[in-house]
Amino acid sequence: MKTILVTGGAGFIGSHVVRLFVKKYPDYRIINLDVLTYAGNLENLKDIDTLPNYTFVKGDITDGDLVNKLFETYPIEGVIHLAAESHVDRSITDPAAFIRTNIFGTFNLIHAAKEHWKGNMEGKRFYHISTDEVYGSLGETGLFTETTPYDPKSPYSASKASSDHLVRAYFNTFHLPVLISNCSNNYGPNQFPEKLIPLCIHNIQHGKSLPVYGKGENIRDWLYVEDHASAIDVIFHRGIIGETYNIGGINEWTNIDLIRALCDVMDKKLGRAQGTSQQLITFVKDRAGHDMRYAIDSSKIQHELGWKPSLQFEEGLSKTVDWYLKNSDWLENVSSGAYEKYYDKQYHQR
Ligand code: NAD
Ligand code: TYD
Repeated sequence: MKTILVTGGAGFIGSHVVRLFVKKYPDYRIINLDVLTYAGNLENLKDIDTLPNYTFVKGDITDGDLVNKLFETYPIEGVIHLAAESHVDRSITDPAAFIRTNIFGTFNLIHAAKEHWKGNMEGKRFYHISTDEVYGSLGETGLFTETTPYDPKSPYSASKASSDHLVRAYFNTFHLPVLISNCSNNYGPNQFPEKLIPLCIHNIQHGKSLPVYGKGENIRDWLYVEDHASAIDVIFHRGIIGETYNIGGINEWTNIDLIRALCDVMDKKLGRAQGTSQQLITFVKDRAGHDMRYAIDSSKIQHELGWKPSLQFEEGLSKTVDWYLKNSDWLENVSSGAYEKYYDKQYHQR
């Protein structure tokens, strides 16, 4: 039985990765290490948490003793590292947590892997999950490729860039068998409602205003979360050690067009007259240092590993809205007192 350590498996993307691996590979033992911050939620995995090849460990990736103990206790052959602080707005108001988890936590994991795999790197894989935001911001044209120079602009992207550099340094210096992927914006079930799409779904449902930063002209490339999980599966198994792969949805939207499209989908599903929810759109103060455009050239993973996104955006958005409407308990549960406080602070000062 192959043992794989997944970090951050109780979060948005991590829970989809854990589910995919636990179900698709019954002969793997998946250990999910997650400290359960506000973004981590074991509810996300309740359909698979009794399966015999799944183990949850509550713990912090910055805890050196705990991480070493995991490597001593289990014959870990692979790591898929997703644990992170992931929200740009929070990195502007509270950057320290990003430095701690994203940089120090990643260092702690790669160092432990290197120490425990020393002398026997054969068959091992340390796969670091990163973001396209490390490349900075594009103008109206161009795409991020794997060789685009790093130019991070927010404390979040700078902390992810730093962790990517550390992982590459461990490959170059210690021959740690690493893989890195940089993906565009994900959307889909189980995303914490601080991020644009679930935040808007929640607010439309409750008739609350839809805060659009600046003029809403910033562009993001959106990928359905299960497509990201399938790319991670392909890269983990077939990626070339030491390589980086960009993952994207070939699906660019300005924020305002996306929010309008989402309003229309929601009006239809909620039986409201077309145009009702668009009246909730409110332009608010822009995000500090707001990156203008992200867009990914994912031809390397497409040509070399045969992966491509499976869902059209309309279908993915419709599935996402259906999930949130069907799981309004999930949304209410995660929108706890602490989140309400964050929301008030974040949006009422804009
Ligand atoms: P998320 O915020 O939903 O989940 C993060 C998870 O990590 C949570 O379960 C949290 O409890 C856990 N965690 C945080 N700090 C930890 C610590 N110190 N020790 C152990 N666990 C900890 O994030 P996400 O959106 O699922 O992103 C997952 C990864 O994918 C991140 O590395 C992120 O940078 C990357 N990524 C995200 C996107 C996106 O659009 N969401 C796009 C590209 C890459
Ligand atoms: P977000 O989901 O936070 O992802 P990221 O910042 O990692 O791209 O934001 C997506 C886009 O939506 C980004 O351009 C910021 C914008 N945005 C708003 O206009 N209003 C909001 O309330 C939020 C959360 C984001």
